[in-house]
Amino acid sequence: MNTDRERPTIPVPLPDGMEMGIRPIVATDADLVSQTFSEMSDQSRYQRFFSPVDELSSHDLKYLTEMDGSTRFAWGARINGRSVGVARFVRFSDEPLVADVAIGIVDDFHHHGIGNALVRCLGPVADLVGIEKFSFDVLPSNTPMLNLLRSIQVTMDHDGRIQRGRVKVNDLPPPPVDPDLLLTMVQEVVSPVVRKIP
Ligand SMILES: CC(C)(COP(=O)(O)OP(=O)(O)OC[C@H]1O[C@@H](n2cnc3c(N)ncnc32)[C@H](O)[C@@H]1OP(=O)(O)O)[C@@H](O)C(=O)NCCC(=O)NCCS
Repeated sequence: MNTDRERPTIPVPLPDGMEMGIRPIVATDADLVSQTFSEMSDQSRYQRFFSPVDELSSHDLKYLTEMDGSTRFAWGARINGRSVGVARFVRFSDEPLVADVAIGIVDDFHHHGIGNALVRCLGPVADLVGIEKFSFDVLPSNTPMLNLLRSIQVTMDHDGRIQRGRVKVNDLPPPPVDPDLLLTMVQEVVSPVVRKIP
């Protein structure tokens, strides 16, 4: 494991030889989340939040950082001490075996395989807490995200003004790092309630 700002991170290799460090987002990570947001372009923010968002309020930051690991979980990624992206799942309250997934990568680091790797790293965590499927809502104009989802075999359908796709967590490509390393850190840092809903 590496250490990054005194918190351990798990090294994750990227296809072009770069390496990122990932760690679960916790309540004290408002700086990581807001730094990632501040380095996303207006277009990237629109694609992430489906509306123009200029800044994150303290309420937003609280929502985006307070994770219980079971209904809400996020990996934060850093490269050379810089926050480069966040990928999260949020379990649907009315459909608890399914979770919505959202990702935001800073524009300077698009197309290095970070988004792809982070989604794959969400898989073992979701499986641990009994989430069976991931759901993705994407604007039809969001070619990078649609390409990313195609690269992990997610099929999309039109649903009104968005494209929606679902994939079984167990059908995702495996993470590019030992899943046990991911789960050990998750259990240490966010202590999720492990639940398998029948
Ligand atoms: C969509 C997003 C998450 C992709 O992240 P990324 O780290 O750049 O994606 P990756 O490098 O892992 O690429 C995955 C696939 O997407 C494709 N892709 C990535 N960037 C692309 C770009 N600018 N144009 C076209 N395709 C692109 C690649 O084809 C890649 O497929 P491949 O592995 O077959 O080459 C990133 O662009 C982003 O944060 N956008 C703004 C927020 C957003 O749209 N979030 C999604 C909705 S929640």
